[in-house]
Amino acid sequence: MTGTKQIVTLPGDGLGPEVMAEALKILGWFNQHFGTKLETSEGDLGGCSIDKHGVPLSDATLDKCRKADAILLAAVGGPKWDKVDYAIRPEAGLLKLRKELELFANLRPAKVFDALVDASTLKASVVKGLDIMIVRELTGGVYFGEPRGITTLPDGQRRGVNTQVYTTNEIIRVARVAFELARKRGNKVCSAEKANVMESGKLWREEVTRLHEAEYKDVTLSHMYADNCAMQLLRNPAQFDVIVTDNLFGDILSDEAAMLTGSLGMLPSASLGAIKSDGKRAALYEPIHGSAPDIAGKGIANPLATILSVAMMFRYSFDMHKEAQLLEDSIEAVLAKGYRTADIMSDGAKKLSTSDMGAALLETLSAAKQKAA
Ligand code: IPM
Ligand code: MG
Repeated sequence: MTGTKQIVTLPGDGLGPEVMAEALKILGWFNQHFGTKLETSEGDLGGCSIDKHGVPLSDATLDKCRKADAILLAAVGGPKWDKVDYAIRPEAGLLKLRKELELFANLRPAKVFDALVDASTLKASVVKGLDIMIVRELTGGVYFGEPRGITTLPDGQRRGVNTQVYTTNEIIRVARVAFELARKRGNKVCSAEKANVMESGKLWREEVTRLHEAEYKDVTLSHMYADNCAMQLLRNPAQFDVIVTDNLFGDILSDEAAMLTGSLGMLPSASLGAIKSDGKRAALYEPIHGSAPDIAGKGIANPLATILSVAMMFRYSFDMHKEAQLLEDSIEAVLAKGYRTADIMSDGAKKLSTSDMGAALLETLSAAKQKAA
């Protein structure tokens, strides 16, 4: 890594600020011990922004995010804002940020840590060693398609409409991300859609096949209907390496894949834009879990998903592969020592608060650094 990196942090709502505080300590540790120049500046997103500015994403925060080298988000939303207008809900701020920065490729790894294999509701023999990457299209499809809305019909009934729509370019750019990732992993891509009932799915399958034929023949490509994919994820998840799918199916399949690991508090994600001519790309990193208002403020949240999101940031935005590996290995080591937050607690383990987990990780990082020196 060369030069200073500007990171916008968006702690958001619920347990967001608590887990972000631990991630910030980790960034500080790398600055201190690795000479990185990771500078952070905080912004408001979600309910906290509604309270302060009347909107979930202000122009000022959006502008700040546009200029950043990377964005780190914790979590948004909560029951407090359940009744606010749909267009300015906390979630709308997140959707706007994805759309405005064109973060079209959402990488959602579902990895089972050896130490946590028993946390899954599935048999250990089915999920042990599991390492799947879901690549979800994030700025198209039914989430953003027009027309949309609710209208009242002449007979007084109401009619709700959303539109599933994809173009060649939207499909190709996300499929390309999936193929490239597969080459660095297990070299397999499974593309999921509903080509049997939807034209947009038929197009999806045709375009993915064409791109594969033209540029990625070395990667093994398979196609699956999304419902079958949902079933196969439970039946035999180890058959998958990279799954590429649209926005809505990706929302659902990634939640399912996350649950295979049994530990939502451990899963990071990255949302990436296109690589620009200066080599940079817009990128947002966030844990998969939500704001968990029920446990917010209690100091018991698991900060590891947010910290693993930092590791993804190191890898995908800053080319800091060594640092990313050290961070991931240290998290494995902390788990292997039997340290757990409440969400991943098991018999005989040592239960830690959010900040004690952060401290245990810093200690492990420092020990690993010393050993390497
Ligand atoms: C996700 C979430 C969001 C989505 C919500 C919060 C808008 O479920 O990131 O998966 O549906 O995309
Ligand atoms: Mg979701």
